[in-house]
Amino acid sequence: MDNNTGNGTNYILAIESSCDETAASVVRNGREVLSNVIASQIALHTLYGGVVPEIASRKHIEKINQVIQEALREAGVTLKDITAIAVTYGPGLVGALLVGVSAAKAISFATGIPLVGVHHINGHISANYIEHQDLQPPFVCMVASGGHSHLVIVEDYGVYRLVGRTRDDAAGEAFDKVARAIGLGYPGGPKIDRLAREGNPDAIPFPRAKVAENEYDFSFSGLKSAVLNYLNSCEMKGEPVCQADVAASFQRAVIDVCVEHSMAAVREFGFDRFAIAGGVASNSALRAAFEEACARQGVKFYRPSPVFCTDNAAMIGVAGYYEYLRGVRHGYDLNAVPNLNL
Ligand code: KG4
Ligand code: ZN
Repeated sequence: MDNNTGNGTNYILAIESSCDETAASVVRNGREVLSNVIASQIALHTLYGGVVPEIASRKHIEKINQVIQEALREAGVTLKDITAIAVTYGPGLVGALLVGVSAAKAISFATGIPLVGVHHINGHISANYIEHQDLQPPFVCMVASGGHSHLVIVEDYGVYRLVGRTRDDAAGEAFDKVARAIGLGYPGGPKIDRLAREGNPDAIPFPRAKVAENEYDFSFSGLKSAVLNYLNSCEMKGEPVCQADVAASFQRAVIDVCVEHSMAAVREFGFDRFAIAGGVASNSALRAAFEEACARQGVKFYRPSPVFCTDNAAMIGVAGYYEYLRGVRHGYDLNAVPNLNL
C-alpha cells in the first residue's frame, strides 16, 4: 500500500518499546507530533529497584495494541492515512524491543505499509527537531541516557560521527546507581535532580574524570565509586550524610564534564549550534549549565522539552520520517538488535 498522499503529507506511525515505556505516536511531515502516547512501567519496576527485563517484555505485550490504537485515535487518523511505520529495533532490552518490532511487522504485513527500523539514539537526537523548526544538521549533540553517553556530530539527518563516548557507565546509569546508594531508589535521575536543588554542589569535591586517549570520551564509574567511598567513610566515622549535598555535588561533577567536553568539541570542530538529548537531558541543572555555557561561547543551544528527552515514540517518528525520505525500508526479517551501533 502506498499512503504517500500525492499532496506531500506524510504520516509516520512510530512505536518504541526498547526499555520500560510502551509508546506510540503519529508524526506529520517529520516535525509535527499529532499524538504521543506513553504507558510507563515505572511503578512496577520501582518495587525491584530497577528495570526487570522479563516484566518489561510482558507488560509491553499487554499494552502495545492499546497504545497504538490510542496514538492513531488521538491523531485523528487511521492506518489508511499512514505512510510508513517506524519502530525502534535497537539498542535496548532484546525481549522489550521484540514486542515493538513484532507489532510493527504485523501491521506492515497486514496492510502493506512500509516498515522502517530506527536506531533508538537516532530517535533521541531527532527529538530536537520537534520543537525547533529551524534546526537542521550539521550540529553537535550530546546524548546522555541510561545506556549511552555519546558526543556526536550530526552531519545530516540520521548521519552521525561519533567523537566521544563513555568508557564505562553511562551518565544516566551513574545517576541511577548513586540514587540507589543514597537511598532514593528508582528511577534515580529525576529524584537526584529534585533533591540536588536543596543541596550545596560545592560541598563535596567529587572527581571530574578525563580519559587520556580522547578528550571527548567520558568515564563515570570513578565518580560513582567516589560517591560510594564517601558514603562508606561517613558511616565508618559515624558522621551524618547530607543526602542533598551528595546529590548536588555528584550532579555538579557529571554536569561539569558533560559541559566541558561538549563545549570543547563545539569549539574544536567549529560549530555554532549545539543540542542535548536523552533522559539525562531533562535534568534541570544540566539544562541551565548548557544554556549558560552556550551563551558564553556564542553558540545556539537546542534542547527538547523533558517529555521528548526521556523515552517516547514521537522522537522515533521524527527519525523514521527522515530515514523513510532517505529510502530506508526494512523487510519482515527485521529483528531486535540489543547492541546496535549508531
Ligand atoms: O533516554 P532514557 O529515557 O532511556 C534510555 O534510553 O536509557 O534515559 C533514562 C535515564 C535514566 O538513567 C534516568 O535516571 C535518567 O535518564 N534521567 C535523568 C533525569 N530524568 C531521567 N537523569 C538526571 N536528571 C533527570 N531529571
Ligand atoms: Zn532512551
